[in-house]
Amino acid sequence: MKFPFDMMFFVSTVATVACIANVASADVFRLPINRTTIGWDFRFVGPNRKAEAHQLPFGAQDQRKRRVLRSRNREQANVGHHQEQLERVHIPVGPVRSTGHHSDDEVIFWSLFTTPISIGKPPLNLTALIDTSWSSFFIPSANCTLNPKERSSCLVHAPLYNSTKSSTYRADLRPGKLLYHSYNGVYTWGIISQDDLHVANMEIRNQVFEEALEWHPMWFTRDDYFDTALGLSLHQTPESWGNFSAQSPFQNMVQQNLLDENIFTLKLPRNDNETGELVLGGVPEILTRDKMIQIPLNHTRDGGGDEWWDFYTSSGWQVSTQRISMDSPNGSIPVLTAEHTAIVSSSYPYIALPDDAATIANHAIGLEELYDWVECETRPQLPNMTLGLGAGAPSITLSPWDYLIEVYDDLFQQLKCVSAFQSMEWRGEMGFIMLGAPFLSGVWSVWDKDGESISFANRAL
Ligand SMILES: *[C@@H]1O[C@H](CO)[C@@H](O)[C@H](O)[C@H]1NC(C)=O
Ligand SMILES: *[C@@H]1O[C@H](CO)[C@@H](O)[C@H](O)[C@H]1NC(C)=O
Ligand SMILES: *[C@@H]1O[C@H](CO)[C@@H](O)[C@H](O)[C@H]1NC(C)=O
Ligand SMILES: *[C@@H]1O[C@H](CO)[C@@H](O)[C@H](O)[C@H]1NC(C)=O
Ligand SMILES: *[C@@H]1O[C@H](CO)[C@@H](O)[C@H](O)[C@H]1NC(C)=O
Ligand SMILES: *[C@@H]1O[C@H](CO)[C@@H](O)[C@H](O)[C@H]1NC(C)=O
Ligand SMILES: *[C@@H]1O[C@H](CO)[C@@H](O)[C@H](O)[C@H]1NC(C)=O
Ligand SMILES: *[C@@H]1O[C@H](CO)[C@@H](O)[C@H](O)[C@H]1NC(C)=O
Ligand SMILES: *[C@@H]1O[C@H](CO)[C@@H](O)[C@H](O)[C@H]1NC(C)=O
Repeated sequence: MKFPFDMMFFVSTVATVACIANVASADVFRLPINRTTIGWDFRFVGPNRKAEAHQLPFGAQDQRKRRVLRSRNREQANVGHHQEQLERVHIPVGPVRSTGHHSDDEVIFWSLFTTPISIGKPPLNLTALIDTSWSSFFIPSANCTLNPKERSSCLVHAPLYNSTKSSTYRADLRPGKLLYHSYNGVYTWGIISQDDLHVANMEIRNQVFEEALEWHPMWFTRDDYFDTALGLSLHQTPESWGNFSAQSPFQNMVQQNLLDENIFTLKLPRNDNETGELVLGGVPEILTRDKMIQIPLNHTRDGGGDEWWDFYTSSGWQVSTQRISMDSPNGSIPVLTAEHTAIVSSSYPYIALPDDAATIANHAIGLEELYDWVECETRPQLPNMTLGLGAGAPSITLSPWDYLIEVYDDLFQQLKCVSAFQSMEWRGEMGFIMLGAPFLSGVWSVWDKDGESISFANRAL
């Protein structure tokens, strides 16, 4: 892929912001976080779906190949059904048509974390993914429905943003295009706009965003669960596929002096029944900051020219790890012993490690394959994962309730505890690892812009 960096432009809000900064009152804002766990069934990935395979979550591509091959062999004895499922369908964790064979080893799971926000006056409610690795705001436009080809993909998000109905809208009207590529991808083409964004009771004035007139979710993307992403990145995401990029809502909160402190605290739910919390500008009462482990940010903002690592390091939220092990009264199994830079990300759904390390971690819980699962009742017998973070390597402990993704699989009618340990394959040899949502579910985390750190505290079960 060639990146048209020369075509990229960044819209500045500095001028409009300066005059309102004084009137804004700083505060602490709290938002609930919902978790929705999605299942993707490889059996519905058609044989000619090469393009879509590239859009699968990283690491899934190789698994998919193996699994599709396996299931295709099986299907030879079973020809002729689910033709229509080969179309772009989302297979939810929910009832699906029987396919004749009942092996569940072709389903992968991941969780989405969403929160309610709104835009404009009167406010239009939106469901936003919580994304610490993303900046640019985008929403589908009501005008999208005027295009018969686009209508249906936008109507998923109705009611849609209609700028003529918002008294706080400001036109820009330059065309732009953007790929939201933080895991649950959407390709968009649209118009640049500005409006006020409401996050809890906070009003972010003149948020620059893309009003999408064309909205093309990637094949596996479950955009029926979200309308946009609430970007909490420290820096603006360079848009590599498109040409639109804007400051994150978090950057704007800081710039408009809306927060008591330039921090946010995150608690991601451990299962779909729990509610998490995002606290902007402070920490909840139950936390004592000086009892938390404060890890300085590693400012490496260079992924070595690798598309993936360049993207993830651009957010600014990464720390060093010294070692990782799986620990139990039986002993300690080293998983990773060399220093790595860990990307901490709410939108990445797994804990991704170099290939050998992922194998060791999965073996320690009795699994041979990626995406495999164990019975949830075995969790008390499984080891903890210890991560030594920062230069002095203070430890954070993840329990099996964290590093296993608990999900009720409606199709097979059973509770599963799916391994979050994922291999980065060749990309894992570049000195980085990903500490995604299963890591964040096990801790309270305080993301501190001015302190240039993330603080962690283990979270009671
Ligand atoms: C979160 O979940 C609750 C309970 O299921 C639901 O009422 C609410 O609408 C959800 N909120 C969002 C933003 O998805
Ligand atoms: C929008 O969300 C707010 C806060 O959750 C709620 O009070 C309001 O009823 C919602 N509006 C609509 C039109 O759903
Ligand atoms: C936007 O709202 C205006 C005013 O209510 C209405 O006339 C127009 O048809 C709406 N546009 C779309 C695309 O729905
Ligand atoms: C939507 O359509 C209206 C009416 O044609 C136009 O004034 C407005 O600029 C359009 N907005 C976008 C984002 O295309
Ligand atoms: C950005 O992309 C859009 C859509 O392809 C295009 O119309 C527009 O001219 C581009 N803008 C710039 C500044 O290159
Ligand atoms: C994992 O850590 C918890 C809390 O520190 C502890 O109670 C539990 O015994 C540990 N489990 C194992 C297998 O060591
Ligand atoms: C940041 O990460 C790089 C690459 O892993 C490492 O060489 C460097 O020492 C780290 N810096 C800090 C301050 O931790
Ligand atoms: C410890 O070893 C015993 C015997 O091999 C095994 O049954 C048990 O599951 C192990 N416990 C842990 C936490 O690894
Ligand atoms: C959520 O709660 C329901 C009923 O309370 C239960 O059946 C289900 O297993 C729970 N799901 C998860 C993922 O814990």
